[in-house]
Amino acid sequence: MLVKNASLKNFNTMKVDVSAAAFTTVKNAEQIIETLSQNAYKNILVIGSGSNILFTEDFAGLIIKNEITGIEILTEDDRSITVKAGAGVNWHNFVEYAVKNKWSGIENLSLIPGTVGAAPVQNIGAYGQEIKDVLLSVSAIELQGLKRVTFLKDDCGFSYRNSIFKQESKNKHIITSATFELKKTFIPLLSYPALAKAIEQKNILEPSLNQVMETVVEIRQSKLPDYFTLSNCGSFFTNPFLPKPGFDVFIAENSEAPFYPFNNGYKLSAGWLIEQCGWKGKRIGNVGCYEHHALVIVNYNNASGKEIYDFSCSIRDSVYKKFGVELEYEVNII
Ligand code: EPU
Repeated sequence: MLVKNASLKNFNTMKVDVSAAAFTTVKNAEQIIETLSQNAYKNILVIGSGSNILFTEDFAGLIIKNEITGIEILTEDDRSITVKAGAGVNWHNFVEYAVKNKWSGIENLSLIPGTVGAAPVQNIGAYGQEIKDVLLSVSAIELQGLKRVTFLKDDCGFSYRNSIFKQESKNKHIITSATFELKKTFIPLLSYPALAKAIEQKNILEPSLNQVMETVVEIRQSKLPDYFTLSNCGSFFTNPFLPKPGFDVFIAENSEAPFYPFNNGYKLSAGWLIEQCGWKGKRIGNVGCYEHHALVIVNYNNASGKEIYDFSCSIRDSVYKKFGVELEYEVNII
């Protein structure tokens, strides 16, 4: 059913009170095709749990909330399992399901907000794992012609927090499911120092799959706000990349800055840069920079999308002024 002039407040985790010209939910691929063949909208936006979106104004088009559920085993052998999940499946529920079945490969991605369908769009990653490491394919519907299409992993153009679904394929496809290959054996991936340290502090020598998941959940809960109690959309910016020459200049002036090698250059920590500019814990009106992690912007109380966007611009400006580094949005600004 199509709802006209629908409030989006409960469909974005920033709790921004805007409306959409039209709104509908879909439970399967056929409903997407049916909706789009009956309604001609120029602007179409698909949302999952709305946890990576900032609406800065009313949306003058159709919002499709993807609620395609279902988890299906496609093939399995002694070592691995191929499993397909509907785009509307809650990501963390999928991780829990995998861990419960002793399938490894996504445990470090525990508690990332959002849905299975949103995960490939920004190649979600945390604690040394990225979805591209286990993804086999993405099924989607092409808006033009309403054809069903499949993207194999190599067609998805994955890189750090990026894919073709954010680039040339943006707004051209609606993802309906994703298929993953998970392992039946488990070798913990503890390359991320914060995770290794947390496991060590628990005096665990050989962590189980479940213990890794639990530890990731604890780390995230200790520094990232739960959007049910404090509205936010996770990391607001991506960690900036500096090629070697620029990095050498930066690090000579900021020797205490955290960094890690990345593609012939280095990634800096956006959270650290923002904190150095004095933003951590700072509040202006209804918007703030989270007290335990400077990369997260929070909406304390009914902030408008514009207010939140302006706040983010002030953060970008001060980081640029102090460090000459340009922050890019991780959040989808609409
Ligand atoms: N840091 C600060 N101040 C802060 C926050 C962080 O100095 O306020 C420093 C920390 O001391 C640490 C470094 O920044 O040395 C990295 O911090 P953290 O481990 O929290 O990771 P991050 O780089 O800020 C990224 C992802 C997170 C993911 C973590 C763990 C991006 C944009 N964010 O954050 O993803 O959970 O790594 O892998 O890459 C998300 O995408 O929404 C998200 C939370």
